[in-house]
Amino acid sequence: MTAQMTQRELFVTTALPYANGALHVGHIMEYIQADIWVRFQRLRGHTVHFVGADDAHGAPIMIAAEKAGNTPQQFVAAIAASRKPYLDGFLIGFDHWHSTESPENTELSQDIYRRLRAAGLISTRAIEQFYDPVKQMFLPDRYIRGECPRCGAKDQYGDACEVCGAVYAPTDLKNPTSALSGAVPELRTSEHYFFRLSDERCRQFLREWIAGGRLQPEVANKAREWLEGDVALADWDISRDAPYFGIAIPDAPGKFFYVWLDAPIGYLAALKAYCTRRGIDFEGVLQNPRTEQIHFIGKDIIYFHTLFWPAMLRFAGKPYKVPDRVYVHGFITVSGEKMSKSRGTGIDPLRYLELGMNPEWLRYYIAAKLNAHVEDLDFHADDFLQRVNSDLIGKYVNIASRAASFVTRYFEGRVVEPASDPEWTALAPEAVDAEIAQAYEGREFGKAVRLAMAFADQINRQFDAARPWELAKDPAQREPLHRVCSRCLNGFQYLTRWLKPILPALARTAEEFLGCGQLRWEGALAPLTRIGAYQHLMQRVEKKQLDALFALPEAAPEAASPAPASAASQHRQLATTISIDDFARVDLRVARILAAEDVEGSDKLLRLTLDIGEAKPRTVLSGIKAAYQPAELTGKLTVLVANLAPRKMKFGVSEGMVLAASDADGKTPAGIFLLEPHPGAQPGMQVK
Ligand code: 2FM
Ligand code: ZN
Repeated sequence: MTAQMTQRELFVTTALPYANGALHVGHIMEYIQADIWVRFQRLRGHTVHFVGADDAHGAPIMIAAEKAGNTPQQFVAAIAASRKPYLDGFLIGFDHWHSTESPENTELSQDIYRRLRAAGLISTRAIEQFYDPVKQMFLPDRYIRGECPRCGAKDQYGDACEVCGAVYAPTDLKNPTSALSGAVPELRTSEHYFFRLSDERCRQFLREWIAGGRLQPEVANKAREWLEGDVALADWDISRDAPYFGIAIPDAPGKFFYVWLDAPIGYLAALKAYCTRRGIDFEGVLQNPRTEQIHFIGKDIIYFHTLFWPAMLRFAGKPYKVPDRVYVHGFITVSGEKMSKSRGTGIDPLRYLELGMNPEWLRYYIAAKLNAHVEDLDFHADDFLQRVNSDLIGKYVNIASRAASFVTRYFEGRVVEPASDPEWTALAPEAVDAEIAQAYEGREFGKAVRLAMAFADQINRQFDAARPWELAKDPAQREPLHRVCSRCLNGFQYLTRWLKPILPALARTAEEFLGCGQLRWEGALAPLTRIGAYQHLMQRVEKKQLDALFALPEAAPEAASPAPASAASQHRQLATTISIDDFARVDLRVARILAAEDVEGSDKLLRLTLDIGEAKPRTVLSGIKAAYQPAELTGKLTVLVANLAPRKMKFGVSEGMVLAASDADGKTPAGIFLLEPHPGAQPGMQVK
């Protein structure tokens, strides 16, 4: 580390995803952004504690768990167990992944609440709310449906009308019903707890905090509008009545913290659990005046992170500290549209990996398009292909392969020092180095990438101008040949340092090839002396991979259809161990095939009409056409995954999936075998 650089201690978080669904590309984008920033800081020699967690509480998760026949604890544990392939797959290096459903979070939430109460910032008051007499619970707004009080549209949510845009209180709805039970809700009174954000102390503190240069200008403006706007800042309702999946409020039987109170405290819980594991003093980290607490979040949750959260922390007092920075990003859109899985425009992160696509392509693409503003980022397939193949590979990776062949062939891998070479000095790597570091620090990753690519362009131009392939033909030209190749390789070393936060795996392979040890970001780089054998560093993206990524699934990838060849190796291995509870979540039923028919336009699918003892038969699209004639299936029994979410495919909606065995690569058509129960089984019987 250079002398003038002081050692920083950074506590960095990303927003906690709700534990009721898989991670989507929006989450992955945020994690990649934070991970790049964190890796950069580590390369600079700073200490970083980088943590994430599941946001496990709240009514929607409680209701989803009940529907799945699980306790909420089991439900969120299963979701937590599903995170690893995403995080590992995209090289996201959290130090620890935690959950808000944890002893640390309970302790910290209750502690912070008690301190706020002692500071006189908690009040109570009775409010009227809809209550579901069948479910015996108070209903969150989104679980109340009824007619819009303004335009009369039927079946609208309790807070806003999707037809005319009116915003209202659930009590304004006409003919309200509970979305959970269908019952007519009753108005009941209940005592609620409030955090007194309207207290002048909070307002005064927030004014200063917002003005403190911690926020992007556009974010500070928004926060200021909320704080000073015409609508006075209201106190915040932080309690929910039982039954609720959450943390109990001390001294308030039957009351729980609203999920948004304990969610950000989950940042601290994750840090605490991590510190315990690593033998680090948690309170020491928070109290260290050098520690910077930094939250990466999306633009939809600015309100919580710039008003409630800093105020809670400020008035809870030491050892808690207020956030030093909140870094807000926009959403990811795909070809200009907001994502939607059913329309096939979304990018499923696991599908991306299963197709054998390199996670570093996506890291690079996202980095190349990110800046420090709250702007949406558009994923565009052609642009992705172009940037990865032409820039990342065409400009950067190629430098190594071009120079390495000559250096290996004519100079036994030796590299000469470029210091006295005027063309090297003209590249001014140290000036570029400083500029790129500044861009990373300010989250201007697109700028960092542009600067690196401009440097790569210069190197490639010098290389082409020297015509090394001609020099190589003349033994008298060894010295200039050696010089241009050495310059290229030393330039490649700098480029590798600069791209290392974005491309950590590629950088490792490149470091091995360069024989330079692990590159850090401390002053000038030592010149290279000898390179190792060149190994191909990165494959190009193929158009067909992108087509496959965006194709509407013709058959569900989990179904009996053959696995894509590139994913076959993964399918040969046993899947991770699951518990009996995990298995119990899958509802398998004996099904009678009432009809089987071809699907027009598809050479893989058959449309099956299945009786599983329900009032209405199910329609399932199954990728078994290669192995079966429709006629041979009619009347047969098979097994259906009956509680699989309906899936919209190119040829219609599939309401479940039939089970079939297939060989490892699924390539031989005959290698698909539908499961059939022994005689005597009846449609609707459960398979366990
Ligand atoms: O909006 C969301 O997805 C929330 N689960 C984010 C919580 S961030 C933090 F406060 F925990
Ligand atoms: Zn309306």
